[in-house]
Amino acid sequence: MLLSRLLASAALLALGGAWVVPQGEPKETTILDEREEELRKQRDALSELVASYSKTCKELKIDSWLMHSSLLGWWYNKQVLPWEKTIHVQVFEPDLAFLARNYNMTVFHRRRGRDYLLYVNPEYANWERTDTSGAADARWIDMESGMSIDIMAVRYRRGSEDEDETAMSCRNGYEIKDTQIIPLRKTWFEGFAVQIPYRYRELLHEEFGDETLWHPGTGNDEYRFNDQMMSWDLKSK
Ligand SMILES: *[C@@H]1O[C@H](CO)[C@@H](O)[C@H](O)[C@H]1NC(C)=O
Repeated sequence: MLLSRLLASAALLALGGAWVVPQGEPKETTILDEREEELRKQRDALSELVASYSKTCKELKIDSWLMHSSLLGWWYNKQVLPWEKTIHVQVFEPDLAFLARNYNMTVFHRRRGRDYLLYVNPEYANWERTDTSGAADARWIDMESGMSIDIMAVRYRRGSEDEDETAMSCRNGYEIKDTQIIPLRKTWFEGFAVQIPYRYRELLHEEFGDETLWHPGTGNDEYRFNDQMMSWDLKSK
């Protein structure tokens, strides 16, 4: 008697539970679907940014390479980190000067009817550290989405005499050695041909530390790295 009552209330509870789930679920799925759709569009725009920029560099005979969080995304799964809205690359200063002279504000028509604007920041040649805006030296801008590739130039440092002759830096103070950059390695990113620095592993280690390199997504609230699929999953809230 007691047992059957217990079973009945357990069944009721289970039923109750079953009622709660379908009511809560549709709403959450919708939010997640919208977020996924938004991310898909963003991803699409980002991978077209990579494709169009790579093609243009090749045409203009400019070397450029992935850096910072874009290099980290490449390290994980050869894709942009899903929470990123900007791609980060570097070029050598003479190449940026060439772009500034010849292609500032040029609109490039690229595949799938997309237009990209190359903007060169007038501060790009100001190495006095008086520009504290943190703005990139140049940007490759998707004119539809507004998303961009941030381009930073590196140049040899004119420091003290005993300074390592391989030492280079960005206008914002980021330091790198030419031996870490060249010879550039050819690889793929978002499915398109790109270049990365020669000592990418060392650069990633210096910038992010081993914990981040070997444990993708540590510190990210929204995504979980799926080791089997080698992709990022949106965590359900
Ligand atoms: C590029 O063009 C824009 C718009 O005319 C201008 O504001 C900017 O100073 C130019 N950049 C350089 C490096 O001349």
